[in-house]
Amino acid sequence: MQYFLDSADTEFIAKALEYYPVEGVTTNPTIIAKERKEFRPLIKEIRSILGGDPALHVQCLASVAEDIVREALAIREFAGDNFYAKIPVTPDGLKAIKLLKSQDMKITATAIFTPQQALMAALAGADYCAPYVDRLDNLSVDGAKVVADMVQLFHIHKLSARVLAASFKNVEQVHRVCLAGAHSVTVGKDVFKKLIYHPMTDQSIARFVSDWEEVYGKGQTALTV
Ligand code: E4P
Repeated sequence: MQYFLDSADTEFIAKALEYYPVEGVTTNPTIIAKERKEFRPLIKEIRSILGGDPALHVQCLASVAEDIVREALAIREFAGDNFYAKIPVTPDGLKAIKLLKSQDMKITATAIFTPQQALMAALAGADYCAPYVDRLDNLSVDGAKVVADMVQLFHIHKLSARVLAASFKNVEQVHRVCLAGAHSVTVGKDVFKKLIYHPMTDQSIARFVSDWEEVYGKGQTALTV
């Protein structure tokens, strides 16, 4: 199971990397555009925050296979070694995935809404397949069920591709796809911050501290008493 940050907010990425067990960063054109920064320097900045190892997923904008291939190869030049080209699942996208696999490109197939799209992308060579859970839920399709079907298909057909569940608007959606067997999730800033929040945790800690300090004094810890 892997957590990714669905964000290009460098301050958030740096902080989340320091505190949480995250494997890397995913972006899309909307997420990049939101930062209002130059594209290449922003990708390089994210890479320098990540360091060499964690994965960085960046989406290609072109719509014709050969152009997608050129774009992915160009982005890899400055996005570092552990770079995944995100490619939407269209006929040209699938062609590009097949072409790029012969050039050792790591691929995340994206804009996935059906298990058949995911199966086709996995067979074309995608390493990750990204279904959009909240967008499915908003169409009255059970996003977590779509994720479960993808996981099952990959398992039945012994495919090495992983489901990278994406597009979340609340913690419950993340939880449900984790239970459905998603191999990974990518979560944006607002939902990510809430993943481990519970008011009872804060309340419990406050009570521990006040009980302790009543006896041992303010600011004391096991190291000082
Ligand atoms: C990930 O691959 C997607 O680009 C992203 O999670 C979409 O999220 P949204 O539906 O919140 O825009």
